[in-house]
Amino acid sequence: MASKKNRVLILGASGFLGQSIYKEFSPYFKTFGTYCSNEKFKKNNQFFKYDCECDDIVEHLERINPDVIISALRGEFSYQLVAHQHLFQYAKMHNHVKIIFLSSSNVFDAYSKYPSYENDTTLSNSIYGHFKIRVEQQLLKLPKKQVVIMRLPMVFGVQSTRVKELRALHELDEFIELFPNLVMNVSWDTKITQHLHYVVNRNKYGIFHCASTDLVHHEDFIKDLIRAMGLKHSKYKFVYTTNDERYLAVMPKYNTPPKHLLFESNSLFQEIKRAY
Ligand SMILES: NC(=O)c1ccc[n+]([C@@H]2O[C@H](COP(=O)([O-])OP(=O)(O)OC[C@H]3O[C@@H](n4cnc5c(N)ncnc54)[C@H](OP(=O)(O)O)[C@@H]3O)[C@@H](O)[C@H]2O)c1
Repeated sequence: MASKKNRVLILGASGFLGQSIYKEFSPYFKTFGTYCSNEKFKKNNQFFKYDCECDDIVEHLERINPDVIISALRGEFSYQLVAHQHLFQYAKMHNHVKIIFLSSSNVFDAYSKYPSYENDTTLSNSIYGHFKIRVEQQLLKLPKKQVVIMRLPMVFGVQSTRVKELRALHELDEFIELFPNLVMNVSWDTKITQHLHYVVNRNKYGIFHCASTDLVHHEDFIKDLIRAMGLKHSKYKFVYTTNDERYLAVMPKYNTPPKHLLFESNSLFQEIKRAY
């Protein structure tokens, strides 16, 4: 049974993943969320406006007094770094607070020969990956029970930007990019929110990889996804970034979730078919 006592604050609750987390958490916890530009949330009393480029998160934290803070933010990296530094300092002074940071498989994007596990050393060639590593490293300096790093591979889902973009490209008769050498695993919002709920309920901490148990070629997965969306005769463009197969995949080894939270990449297609 979920505990009613937790107060949860979702930073970026107006976004794709933030909204999904809010829906999952709000029946069970006192849940608050932030939005930045999406004024649709203005009328919701549980939401407040927060722009990390100009607002101070600490005054909101003092007002809301959350037990769990879930960071599902995007935005300019330099401002996000400062915001997470403030979260870190706040959690240091309030030891009941747990911070859950949504990180990415890109923290390993400099390694291309194999999938990565929770305790592998992070190394990235991308600005995004570097940014995620910096936040992870900062947060991991907190007492271990106060931190959850949830690493995600490419995230799809009915409401995801990726799925909406595929549909838009198809409708405009534009080329859809395929990366034939990319071997990856995938995740989607409903799986991530269920995993987060489990983590909060069970007071788990540490690094988690929330991703399909199987690996797929980007090309095959996107083509199957397009089929599941009921789209026919899409135009494809093959993008070769390397001659060899390149892995961008995070697998769980030490923090494996219970069986009911494990999933294969093709189970997304049922959800997509229902929605389309
Ligand atoms: N989606 C993926 O494939 C994926 C994969 C790996 C990791 N992640 C991580 O998961 C998190 C959520 O991703 P998402 O796809 O759900 O992102 P998203 O849909 O773009 O949502 C981003 C959220 O951040 C808010 N935001 C944007 N600029 C801001 C600013 N300057 N100050 C404060 N808030 C700001 C947005 O608010 P408004 O919309 O109201 O402006 C929105 O609530 C991110 O940290 C991302 O790196 C995502």
